[in-house]
Amino acid sequence: MAQPIRIFDTTLRDGEQAPGCSMDINEKLEVARQLERLRVDVIEAGFAISSPGDFESVKRIASEIKDCAVASLARTSIKDIDAAYEAVKAASSPLIHTFISTSPVHMYHKLKMTPEQVLEKVAVMVAYASKKCPEVEFSAEDATRSEWDFLVKVFEAAIDNGATVINVPDTVGYTTPEEYARLISYLKTNIRNIDKAIISVHCHNDLGMAVANSLAAVGADATQVECTVNGIGERAGNAALEELVMALNTRRDYFKTSCRVDTTQIYRASKLVYSIIGTPAPINKPIVGANAFAHESGIHQHGVLAEPTTYEIMSPESIGLPKSRLVLGKHSGRHAFADRVRELGYELSEEDLNKYFEEFKKLCDRKKDVNDNDIEAIITNSISKIGGFYRLHSFDIHISGSATNSCVIRLEKAGEILEDVALGDGPIDAAYNAIDKMAHAPEHSLEDYSIRSVSEGKDALGEVIVKIKSGNKITTGRGLSTNIIESSILAYLNGLNKILERRVSGGEAGNIRYDST
Ligand code: KIV
Ligand code: ZN
Repeated sequence: MAQPIRIFDTTLRDGEQAPGCSMDINEKLEVARQLERLRVDVIEAGFAISSPGDFESVKRIASEIKDCAVASLARTSIKDIDAAYEAVKAASSPLIHTFISTSPVHMYHKLKMTPEQVLEKVAVMVAYASKKCPEVEFSAEDATRSEWDFLVKVFEAAIDNGATVINVPDTVGYTTPEEYARLISYLKTNIRNIDKAIISVHCHNDLGMAVANSLAAVGADATQVECTVNGIGERAGNAALEELVMALNTRRDYFKTSCRVDTTQIYRASKLVYSIIGTPAPINKPIVGANAFAHESGIHQHGVLAEPTTYEIMSPESIGLPKSRLVLGKHSGRHAFADRVRELGYELSEEDLNKYFEEFKKLCDRKKDVNDNDIEAIITNSISKIGGFYRLHSFDIHISGSATNSCVIRLEKAGEILEDVALGDGPIDAAYNAIDKMAHAPEHSLEDYSIRSVSEGKDALGEVIVKIKSGNKITTGRGLSTNIIESSILAYLNGLNKILERRVSGGEAGNIRYDST
């Protein structure tokens, strides 16, 4: 069997920078912990120079995570590389990931640099990064639209100057499996010093081929693949981790290699990321969609009952799909609750367990049966709860089908109770108008509002997800209650608190993507 494939996860960098996917520091830490349980090899935790908030979260992740390398992105500039190193240096295995564009269209129009200048910059900046950090990855952005001979020169310069990984990104999702495999083989044959570095691939999904392209590259001896949980990322996203890993595992016979990922953590990782970004999994999403292991047709059901492998190429257990859906209630004790939480794949501290048990008990007073979805909703909603500049104290609402609706809201802010009233087209509009009168949040607009029932029955928990736009960032707020007006208010406050938190921690300042060097 060939050497195992290194899984480089960039959910917290390339994934998180996509519109609607931004996460706050608590959410990023929670995702990083789950990536560690998943046993990815590298966590790209962010782009340290892009904002003080990003810097802080990369630093926190680097100091907490022990079993994965932790990387920060950096352009080929001293300031970027210094910030990246400062952020990752506490990691047990720190990595600086530096990049510059190499395609004619990017060099000419975006960088306004000649190929010679780019080559020089790669040599100088990779040397600078590798003096600081033992592991340096160099990416040739837009590699698949670059001239192959130029790529050879650039990668040779990077390796000569200390790069330990060279990455060949399909930045705009342009390549095809066969072409990409040829490019990887070409680089492997023609880069003089390739024995000193590993080849990594990084594919975007614009034409729906990110996973196929990555796997074709593995067939051509690339030994690192970059991916994100659920395939989140710029535009159509990145190669999906769960698809890559399950393809490598299921077709080990074909790829003759695998990876060290614990696949039984996949389902939980996927759920966590979907719940943080406030988007449900498409039902037909490979591996993690609700229908991925469902068999509707009689013929298929009959086959699976007789022998699961008739229609299942992988088992639901292999991705950690919970087997039973147990119901708890007000007579269930802390023990039963703790057991169920563990079975659902959560490893919680005593403190968190106590906190969630309290919420579970409160829920049992309002709801007869509490099932796995309810428990997971309690946990994921708490992860998204930010300290809170404004907390809901109480509210009174007047709802009318024919006249204007009104809402009185009382908020708690640093021990003080604020109260205001507002009118609105509907009760939620009225509530949000009242909040806006009191909360001093930066200019914002509500971009999306969705509500879903977490479980069955009239007493089900209602989860509201809002998307609030402030500046050029979209923030997700979530709220959970058996009263849907309350969930709506909590979701809006959660979103506004996150926006305020980001402003206070300086997370707003930069927002650099990769448009210049
Ligand atoms: O898609 C891309 O080219 C990137 C690089 C920064 C690696 O994300
Ligand atoms: Zn990318």
